[in-house]
Amino acid sequence: MARAFAARLEHAAPSRLRESVGSAVETLHGLVAGLGLTPAELRASVAFLTDVGHHADDRRQEWVLLADVLGVSSLVEDLSAPRPAGATPNTVAGPFYRADAPDLPAGATISRDGKGEPLAVSGRVAALGGGPLAGAVVEVWQANGEGRYENQEPDRQPENNLRGRFRTDTQGRFAFRSVMPAGYALPADGPVGRLMAALGLALQRPAHLHFRVTANGHERLTTHVFDRDDPAIDGDAIFGVKPELKVEFRCTTAGRTVDVDFVLCPLRQG
Ligand SMILES: [Fe+2]
Repeated sequence: MARAFAARLEHAAPSRLRESVGSAVETLHGLVAGLGLTPAELRASVAFLTDVGHHADDRRQEWVLLADVLGVSSLVEDLSAPRPAGATPNTVAGPFYRADAPDLPAGATISRDGKGEPLAVSGRVAALGGGPLAGAVVEVWQANGEGRYENQEPDRQPENNLRGRFRTDTQGRFAFRSVMPAGYALPADGPVGRLMAALGLALQRPAHLHFRVTANGHERLTTHVFDRDDPAIDGDAIFGVKPELKVEFRCTTAGRTVDVDFVLCPLRQG
């Protein structure tokens, strides 16, 4: 059957689409044959995919969630933005990024409601194999101490709570104040959540800060830093945790502190 479909596809003009569909159908036929899929299982599979579609709209994207929990989003990110050894790994931005975070001066707080355990963040941006990068733009966004983002609950958190945009100084350094983020669970009330529950797999993400770093002449970095002591650190539901991204959020008498280092790659030529 796969061969018959491939023969039919030969009539289509060569394109990336033809190549992709051909490869996908070949893999799909192999999967169906390998599993010995029954008609009832095919109907159940179609019903699941239909349900995923019914949970996808402007406010919620169950297809993206499915790609995330299957590891496909992280795989695509790794393939499209590979980083050499020594450079900070790239990760997905996730659904809570906003491009319009406010510019703030060094040392400012991004907590607009003052709720949560105080956290002092300091960091440094450098070039791979080179020195510090002055004037780099460092965007940060994070969940609050309840694991919720400002744009998830606009009626409970101030606009742009826990978001900000900073610039590195001549030493490539930046610093700001915030509150300790909590980890959170991805939505469990849709078909993806039910699938994961049936498999006994968790939807939890360990506590983290999101960063996007932009510097002239360098590839833009989008990444996370994760609390290495979070109980979910080895089970991130979307496979974003990499060894280099685990950091210590140290306890002090004044709250928590964390230091982060980002190493950017020069822009590739051509
Ligand atoms: Fe997040």
